[in-house]
Amino acid sequence: MAKPIVRIKNLCVGYNSPLVSGFNLEIKPGEIVAIVGISGLGKTTLLRTIAGLIPKLSGKIIGNVRRRGGIGYIPQRLGLVRHASVYHNVELGARCGIKVNDESGNILNWSSRKSVLIHETVKLVGLTEKINEPIRRLSGGQQRRVATARTIAQSPELILADEFLSELDKENADSIIRLMRDYVKNNNTAMLLVEHHLDRANQIADRIVDLGDFEVSLNEEE
Ligand SMILES: Nc1ncnc2c1ncn2[C@@H]1O[C@H](COP(=O)(O)OP(=O)(O)OP(=O)(O)O)[C@@H](O)[C@H]1O
Ligand SMILES: [Mg+2]
Repeated sequence: MAKPIVRIKNLCVGYNSPLVSGFNLEIKPGEIVAIVGISGLGKTTLLRTIAGLIPKLSGKIIGNVRRRGGIGYIPQRLGLVRHASVYHNVELGARCGIKVNDESGNILNWSSRKSVLIHETVKLVGLTEKINEPIRRLSGGQQRRVATARTIAQSPELILADEFLSELDKENADSIIRLMRDYVKNNNTAMLLVEHHLDRANQIADRIVDLGDFEVSLNEEE
């Protein structure tokens, strides 16, 4: 059996007190898992912990991904550089995704390949006409598509996406779902996403995990 891309054992996440405990999950290459659960349950906290952005309280997260750019994280608030163009935002992903050395360690000239990659990825999300526009002049849904392009340009082995389909109409959501599924399936990578809407979670994911099923201390006294 293929080695999991990520293996999470008995994880406990939270800030001062635990929000979620006893969380277990394995994601295999080519697999997409969606986390569902009501607002305030700790979904974002869980994703940020797996991304290594906040410390875990206890448990294990074993990732089988490359050190540089191996995890692509799409935050709930996107984290785009608002004054910079679509091109430059996608470039931030591409910088972590393009090989800078060949097998013998020689430095590769990658600037022309980088430009091709950025243009191709922006085209995939249907924003070619907006490539030189600053992010602040794009609609909410267009900004979500830029965040998707930035992540794909990074060629991550594990994608963590926090409600990245919100604000997208059905047509755009369908095309982004297709794009992400193709990326994960064709490259044998893995994806863990948080999705409020169960129908969309079912549409994109192979498997759904309800965070409400885990031991949650949402209303407990400290
Ligand atoms: N930086 C922080 N410091 C302390 N507590 C926080 C912090 N961020 C979030 N929380 C608290 O942790 C709880 C869970 O927040 P989280 O953002 O993980 O929920 P969520 O499940 O993603 O909710 P939503 O569906 O609304 O996005 C909330 O009660 C929130 O107030
Ligand atoms: Mg959240």
